[in-house]
Amino acid sequence: MNIDGKTVRPIWLDTDQKTVKVIDQRQLPHRFVVADLTTVDEVIHAIKEMYVRGAPLIGATGAYGVMIATCNGEDAADSLKFIRQECERLKAARPTAVNLDWGVNRVLDKVLAVETPEERIFEARVEAAAIAEEEAENCRMIGVYGAERIEAISLEKKGKTVNILTHCNAGWLACIEHGTATAPIYEAFDRGVDLHVWVDETRPLNQGARLTAWELGKQGVPHTVITDNAGGHLMQHGRVDMVIVGTDRSTHTGDVANKIGTYLKALAAKDNDIPFYVALPSSTFDWTMTDGVKEIPIEERSPDEVRYIQGMADGQITRVLVPPEDSPAADFAFDVTPARLVTGFITERGICGASESEIHRLFPEHD
Ligand code: MRU
Repeated sequence: MNIDGKTVRPIWLDTDQKTVKVIDQRQLPHRFVVADLTTVDEVIHAIKEMYVRGAPLIGATGAYGVMIATCNGEDAADSLKFIRQECERLKAARPTAVNLDWGVNRVLDKVLAVETPEERIFEARVEAAAIAEEEAENCRMIGVYGAERIEAISLEKKGKTVNILTHCNAGWLACIEHGTATAPIYEAFDRGVDLHVWVDETRPLNQGARLTAWELGKQGVPHTVITDNAGGHLMQHGRVDMVIVGTDRSTHTGDVANKIGTYLKALAAKDNDIPFYVALPSSTFDWTMTDGVKEIPIEERSPDEVRYIQGMADGQITRVLVPPEDSPAADFAFDVTPARLVTGFITERGICGASESEIHRLFPEHD
């Protein structure tokens, strides 16, 4: 994306063709810091600690992690065994986003198909780069299809502002380019649609307030940050025309895992007859699970993410304690929105309903 006149992605390969560069998203919006990843341990740390986050980006990072494993495994006694073990460690870094497994396995398959260490490194590099490029293009197409729905609402409203609510950050920072939920927004905005985005702050880590607001601001898209609990009120008062969210894993039957709080937005949208769309590349579909509520693993993170809140004070990024020192806290990172609450999926192949038959109609190769 174009940020202050420069083209930026959240991940790229350095000119040495070995070092993976990522934006350290923990420090945004207050500082723009780039981190170097040269070992699998560093990649795992970056995924767990959320320098990189968001399903498509986690997938691409895992893919580059396999490339790093091939570079570092060159001299191991049994380099294939080493690479396989490193892949298992990479896949265990975060449980909910299915893209991590997908990205790692896709590169590993290429690596296993060739003989020499040099070929393995080459194949891994090419495949990881291909994943990043494909995801960027998929997100572009999500924008093209999704923008049509925004334009339709704009027409119905005779050109009056279309108000879109989004939760968490499913923007280019979570993907490679364009984002998933934000892609239709950017595309419609570029086409001249008058729109405005309600940005849920998204406690505990505030990906909405920190990242989505920063992204939209950099592109000049009108937006307002709201508390996570404000959406229902705004919907009741006709101030939300549609909801678009991303997802970390969606079953091929239409259940959607996304950042904690998404389910409540979907319930409120249903109650107020507001369309609730989920934007995703096909890499985020789980083709094996059928019951998202029962089967999708929900990550539980450190209670300290709930107890403390991070922000900028006196030029320093600071954390402050909110609840009583000794109150226990719990951090459930995702929830699952059942298919019945989802109006449609916006994918790189078009828009479909949230049902097994509709999803497989667009992706028959997974029948
Ligand atoms: O915990 P995160 O930040 O990795 O969570 C991912 C998300 O930002 C979302 O849940 C997002 O809406 C889907 S990923 C494009």
